[in-house]
This record gives sequence, C-alpha cells and structure tokens, in this order.
Amino acid sequence: MEQKPLSFDQEKLQGISGKTLAIHHDKLYVGYVNKINEVWEKIGALRKSGTYEGNATYSELRALKESETFALNGVYLHEWYFDVLGGAGNSAEAPELSKALIEKWGSVEEAIKYLSACGMAARGWAVLAWDIKQQKLMQFNSDSHNQGGIWGAIPVIVLDVYEHAYFIDYGSDRKKYIEDYWKNFNWSKAEELYLKARQISL
Ligand SMILES: [Fe+2]
Repeated sequence: MEQKPLSFDQEKLQGISGKTLAIHHDKLYVGYVNKINEVWEKIGALRKSGTYEGNATYSELRALKESETFALNGVYLHEWYFDVLGGAGNSAEAPELSKALIEKWGSVEEAIKYLSACGMAARGWAVLAWDIKQQKLMQFNSDSHNQGGIWGAIPVIVLDVYEHAYFIDYGSDRKKYIEDYWKNFNWSKAEELYLKARQISL
C-alpha cells in the first residue's frame, strides 16, 4: 500500500497550521501506511511458516490481526479526513448532499451543528456515512480506529477529533477546531463521495 499526498496546499488552511498537517499527514498517516505494510508482511510470513496458532488470549496471529484493523482503518479514516479538507466551506458546491442533509436534519446549518456536537462527543472519529443496507446517511462515532465502525457504511464526511489534529493550533479548544474544519471543508469532494456511495445498494 502506498501513501497518498495531500490534495491541497498544507499552508493554506484557515486555523489548522502547516505544522499540524506536516505532523498529521507526513508522520502519523504515513506511519499507519508503513505499519499496515509491515503487518501484512508479517501475517504473510507467519502463514507461510505454518507456525501460526489461533489463541484469543494471546498469540502472534491474534496480535497481528488486531494491529491489521487498527493500522488499516488508521490509513483509510485519515485519507477520508484529508480528502474533505482544503475547500472553501461552501455547501452550495454539494447540492445533492445538502438536499439529503436538509431532509434528515432540517437544514445544512442544523446538520453541521449536530455533526459538530458528535465530534465533541467522540474520542477519535465522527463520521457521516452512507449505510448501504438502510440506504440512508447515518452518523457514527468511533473512539479508536478499529472500534465503532459499521461494516456496510461508506464514510462521506470524516472528522478527526484526536488531540493531534488540533492541539498545536487550538490547545484544548476542540470546539474552535471543529468550527474551522467546516470553514476548510471541501463540499464538492464530499458531494462526489456521496454520489458514488449512494449508488451502492446491497
Ligand atoms: Fe489523526
């Protein structure tokens, strides 16, 4: 697996500094990409060796399988988060997504207010996702990369609320960071993700 570059100039966001993004993308995100590659190599080697043992209290296989979902969700969630940054915060760029948010929560402003509160309530990730079973947008929170995710839900709006995402720029003021997240939000990218996800029905 290869790392993906940021799709925007990391010095150009409002409030969220280039320093934060350099650490967040180049060190933390890239660290997850490197780790998932290492984990897959080790799983492959263990399988080929034939010495694997499936013990649920502790086994090398258990530890690697646990790390696999943590590292890979760490990669994917960060990619979805970075994907929807670098915009102008203009919801008019997302007509279909706006329509869905209005149907669900009354107005785009109410949707942002609620999604922001979910961000305040999470310890890791706040996600608006397309649920392919129910065929509707659902909000889910996740306190760790491999906890709280719903299989069958495709993320559309991903908000990272780990302290590393904002502490350098905002101290403990997560609320202000989330306000700035929406100012930097790339609605046209979110619209593209939503339109693609909405086509999946299983
Ligand atoms: Fe992060």
